[in-house]
Amino acid sequence: MTPVPGFSFAVHGRDGAARTGVVTTPRGAIRTPAFMPVGTQATVKGMYMDQVKALGADVILGNTYHLMLRPGAERIAALGGLHRFGGWSGPILTDSGGFQVMSLAKLRKLTEQGVTFASHVDGSRFELTPERSVEIQGLLGADIQMQLDECVALPNERAAIDKAMQLSLRWAERSRRAFEAQPAGRALFGIVQGGDQPDLRVASAKALAAMDFPGYSIGGLAVGEPQAVMLAMIEEVMPHLPDDKPHYLMGVGTPDDLLAAVARGVDMFDCVMPTRNGRHGQAFTRFGKVNFRNARHADDPRPLDEASSCPAARDYSRAYLHHLVRTEEMLGSMLITWINLAYYQELMAGARAAIAAGRYADYMAEVRDGWARGDI
Ligand code: GUN
Repeated sequence: MTPVPGFSFAVHGRDGAARTGVVTTPRGAIRTPAFMPVGTQATVKGMYMDQVKALGADVILGNTYHLMLRPGAERIAALGGLHRFGGWSGPILTDSGGFQVMSLAKLRKLTEQGVTFASHVDGSRFELTPERSVEIQGLLGADIQMQLDECVALPNERAAIDKAMQLSLRWAERSRRAFEAQPAGRALFGIVQGGDQPDLRVASAKALAAMDFPGYSIGGLAVGEPQAVMLAMIEEVMPHLPDDKPHYLMGVGTPDDLLAAVARGVDMFDCVMPTRNGRHGQAFTRFGKVNFRNARHADDPRPLDEASSCPAARDYSRAYLHHLVRTEEMLGSMLITWINLAYYQELMAGARAAIAAGRYADYMAEVRDGWARGDI
């Protein structure tokens, strides 16, 4: 399948298993390690796209499942594609939909062919096959697309994990064939499954590597297992994934998950945590998590973090952020989402610089020390 003209990945620096590099797409470069803000409904909730860009995000994520239900992939295509529709001109990565069907849709029926389900919005029925998922992602105009896969929650029986992994491999091959109809410059990633079973993870990674994708996702993690299990699975699969291709850990995670996964060779991440937790009043900072619902902030005139790159962390008092959260004002959600996305981008920028300087272990220790001290 490789090379994909217009899409490439170059590693520029290494420190142990950690790498820093650049994914090049026709819509722009993605500096890695990269955190991708989640833009499920063609919007990063509570943020202007200009703000997202100004934070240093090079790529955002979109969701096949949500957009096929509303407003529909064909409609977005007729309106000029997802980039124009949502006002984001940089690269967009889309998830394939299977994961969201399993967590959100009703009356799901999974067969070899694909998955049929009822929309969580109005109950109308849809079918998602590997071919249709890739077609939808093509209609959206996504620069980086995901194969349709089956992800099982953990803990689970080995037989169920094995079955889902094997089905995902067959769907990888079908997705790859369907993707051949798309214009040059776009990339399709295969997704490693295999739950918490090391040998199934290795089998999945080896089979996908043999299919020669331009990038590899690690799915089926952060679905109920302890962090140590997640990290162990990453360590199992890494030696079997092509080293010269990007490695994307799907749906992860906390700031500490990101640091630990980067140390093991992960290049790309996405997670709803900074945006979702922001809407619920929880801020991520260099001195740990801060819950603005807590009454201890009610009389505190200090900004959250004077040294932050984010105006929302510098220009408003903690008392005001607390007030906005308690009164459920939309500005509270917006400001704390902004703070969180800024922090995630800062964390990744720091990781890139530290890897380039050969001091990634020190960087991890310093960042973790800041969280542990918690002296705000
Ligand atoms: N997002 C988080 N985990 C997964 C996964 O295993 N598969 C897909 N397609 N998306 C995900």
